[in-house]
Parts: sequence; structure tokens; C-alpha cells
Amino acid sequence: MKGIILAGGSGTRLSPSTDSINKHLLPVYDKPMIYYPLSVLMLGGIKEILIISTPEDTPRFEKLLGDGSELGITLKYREQVQPRGIPEALTISEEFIGKDKVTLILADNIFYGQGFTTLLRNAIKNHTYATIFGYRVKDPRRFGVVEFDHRQKVISLEEKPDNPQSDFAVTGLYIYDHRAVQIAKKLKPSDRGELEITDLNKEYLKWNHLDVELLGRGFAWMDAGTQESLFETAEFVKTTQQRQGFKIACLEEIAFYLGYNTREELYEKGKSMEKNDYGQYLMEIADRKHTDQYWDAIDHHPMMGLVKNE
Ligand code: TTP
Repeated sequence: MKGIILAGGSGTRLSPSTDSINKHLLPVYDKPMIYYPLSVLMLGGIKEILIISTPEDTPRFEKLLGDGSELGITLKYREQVQPRGIPEALTISEEFIGKDKVTLILADNIFYGQGFTTLLRNAIKNHTYATIFGYRVKDPRRFGVVEFDHRQKVISLEEKPDNPQSDFAVTGLYIYDHRAVQIAKKLKPSDRGELEITDLNKEYLKWNHLDVELLGRGFAWMDAGTQESLFETAEFVKTTQQRQGFKIACLEEIAFYLGYNTREELYEKGKSMEKNDYGQYLMEIADRKHTDQYWDAIDHHPMMGLVKNE
């Protein structure tokens, strides 16, 4: 399974904050936005990841995240010259995907909740052709809406419908087989001049090859694309972290629990930024006494339900 993070776009709704910097490099409370989608792919067990952004911003992502070796993963980078639509991520990645399956995530989508890792890993394991993720929302008319049967086979997909057939929005997380590349190549731009991911999903739907996984009420899904939602998301992260003392989307911590880096490496990374809260947190997690205490108390990592790294 390969992973793609789409981090281009124009970010017009966040202007002027995005006039000189890419939206996905802006902080969501205490870390850059891209950390959140990257954490999702890592938790899904995906180790080969392609980050796609604009020609100006791709080098900035590379400066931030490097080749991924510090996190025990492989990161590659490609440019999207113009924001011609989400499906273009797949054509740009043709060589990278090859004959593999691929999980695509939009870089401004933030997912969080107990059991998310298990849900995603199961979705990846049981995946056949195409899987989308549905989330119940109060006003489905603002979203792509998915209607499904009792086996979670998709019946219909509609973009911003006046009369939604369900309350479930389609989130920015998709799993496809390698055919998605060929389908994306054949798509025509919509009236707004973009290739639409809904059109790609509708092709899978035509063959009855589209499944939906539902994220229940215990999950948070946010799209940090407007001033309001960016602020709300940051507040959510701050409140959750301060209450529990665990960070959301701390990449080095996730790499440690997955067994990709050692306790010493985690500590050294923390020490290199010990003056800030993020660095102190890494050192705290690497501290055997502290970690063991909480393993004993909880028996598994509360965020991920993963086996401990010992
Ligand atoms: P949008 O939020 O639809 O677009 P945007 O990020 O350009 O923002 P705005 O509407 O404020 O101008 O995009 C959803 C996500 O997909 C976002 O993370 C950016 C990314 N994206 C690309 O990288 N390339 C594209 O061609 C498109 C359409 C989106």
C-alpha cells in the first residue's frame, strides 16, 4: 500500500494568511497542519508516502520533513503545477503507485478518535476496489454526500445536493486500487474547471465497486480550510492535548510506538528542541520510568491501541 498526501491547492479561503505560504504549513495549534494527515497514513501502517504540493511549496515540505528516515518511513515529493483538481494527485503519482494500492489523503483533513487506527488498518486490509470514509454532519448540503445500504455498499454520491439522501459527508480520505490512475486520466473538468474526485468515485460506483467506512460519533473529522474551522480545529487539539497530556499527531511518538525509531533516537530528537513544549514532550515519552508507568496503568496506548515498543 502506497500513501499520497495532497498538499497543493490555492488556499484562497485563508488569504491573506496563505498569500506567501502554503495552507498545510500553517500551524494547527502546536505543529504544522501536514503532521495530521501524515500521522494518519503512518498509523495506517503505510511506509511509502508521496507528498504533492505546488512548485513553490514542495521544497518547503521537503525542508520540514526530509526523506522520512528519521521517522522510519520513505517520503518522496512531486509538484502539481496548477490546482487542477484532486484526481490529478493520482495521475501525478502513476509511477509511484505502479501496480500497488493507494491511500490518498487531503492535507487539510484532520481525523482523530479512539479506534481510528484499527478502523483504518481494517479498511486497508479488507479493501478491494475503492473505499471512501463517511462522517455524519449537521448540514450535509455543504458536502459530497454518500448514500449506502446495510452492507455499506454505496448507492449514490452527490456533490453539495439540495436534497441529501443521507447525513453522511465524504471525507478527504480514499483507498483505491491501481486502476484509479487510468480512471483519473479519463476524467473531464467540471463546470468549475477542475477534475472532481466525486466523478472518479462515481466510476467505481458504476461497477458497484465502491465501499464506505463509517466514522462514528466518537470520531472527530475536521477540514481546516477556513479561518473558522482552522481556529476550531486548533482549539480542539489544544483542549484534547491539555486534558489528556498526550499529543495528537506527534510523528516521532507514533514512529516510536510503531517500532520505527528507538527510545534513544526519540530522546535525542526531543533534546534537540528541549526549549519548546514539543521537544520536552518527546523527552518525556522517551523517559522509561514515565512510559512504563503509563503502560502499566493502561496496558495499551490510548490513542492507537498498538502493541508497545519494547
Ligand atoms: P480545497 O479546500 O477545495 O481548495 P484549496 O485548498 O485550494 O482552498 P480554497 O478553496 O480556499 O482556495 O482543496 C482541498 C484539499 O485538496 C486541500 O488540502 C488542497 C488540496 N488540493 C490540491 O492539492 N490540489 C488541487 O488541485 C485541489 C483542487 C485541492
